[in-house]
Amino acid sequence: MNTNTPEHQPGAPAPASDADASQPLSQGTQEALAQAGHAPASPGATHIRSFVHRRGHITQRQRDALEQLMEKWAIPYAARTLDVQAAFGRSAPTILEIGFGMGETTEKIALARPGDNFIGVEVFNAGVGSMLHRIETSQIENLRIIQHDAVEVVRDMIPPDSLDGVHVYFPDPWPKKRHHKRRLLQPPFVQLLASRIKPGGYFHCATDWQDYAVQMLEVLGAEPLLANTVDGYAPRPDYRPQTKFETRGLRLGHGVWDLIFKRV
Ligand SMILES: C[S@@+](CC[C@H](N)C(=O)[O-])C[C@H]1O[C@@H](n2cnc3c(N)ncnc32)[C@H](O)[C@@H]1O
Repeated sequence: MNTNTPEHQPGAPAPASDADASQPLSQGTQEALAQAGHAPASPGATHIRSFVHRRGHITQRQRDALEQLMEKWAIPYAARTLDVQAAFGRSAPTILEIGFGMGETTEKIALARPGDNFIGVEVFNAGVGSMLHRIETSQIENLRIIQHDAVEVVRDMIPPDSLDGVHVYFPDPWPKKRHHKRRLLQPPFVQLLASRIKPGGYFHCATDWQDYAVQMLEVLGAEPLLANTVDGYAPRPDYRPQTKFETRGLRLGHGVWDLIFKRV
């Protein structure tokens, strides 16, 4: 998704069928989200955030989902190791997705791979509301959400050598040079993420920004815990569905670059 400005996050426009609900969330929801670790300003955080706080548009359906479904499908952020088996009620290969946006891709992948557990991390209310609604509607038993900064989730909740895969699809491009420091995939975070993947597990990211693709290839290529599965960029694997943004972008002649590395 070619998001030209950071303000465009979390990516997809709201479904036109939904009623506008640009009022602030109720006190109860705000408190519930705060308990869930919503878009945090965690004490002691020193890293540059890859997102900005802002009050965005939220539809009534997303709002309802936030009010009613957080407890059912979300895992609250906590600065302690997550018991994945307890969270899903089973032991299965576990994939972490960072920045699922409105959740369209996540839903398709989780439904197509019922044998895997998926943990989706996202910060923005509209995206989380949309994903909760999808999980409830499609009863996606193998998907849980954590609404929190992924850097802190990976650092605090995910044990080393535990993930079977990581997905980072179309992370915010932060196109202006002075904002590049906000890009998610920088050496320290890639190193941290790689340390959480099991040997043999995979790290899959995709972008439609050429200079971010070049940066990803450099950063992932320089990480000693990762090895490229191909020479350069990978073909889009069948399990990653093409998003509508991507389809439109490709029609307009934009490129999309997938990178698939393995944890050594
Ligand atoms: C451009 S959107 C892409 C959404 C989706 N992956 C897609 O392909 O449509 C990037 C998303 O990453 C989320 N994001 C950015 N930084 C994040 C962070 N540190 N932790 C969790 N989510 C983050 C943003 O809120 C945004 O929804």
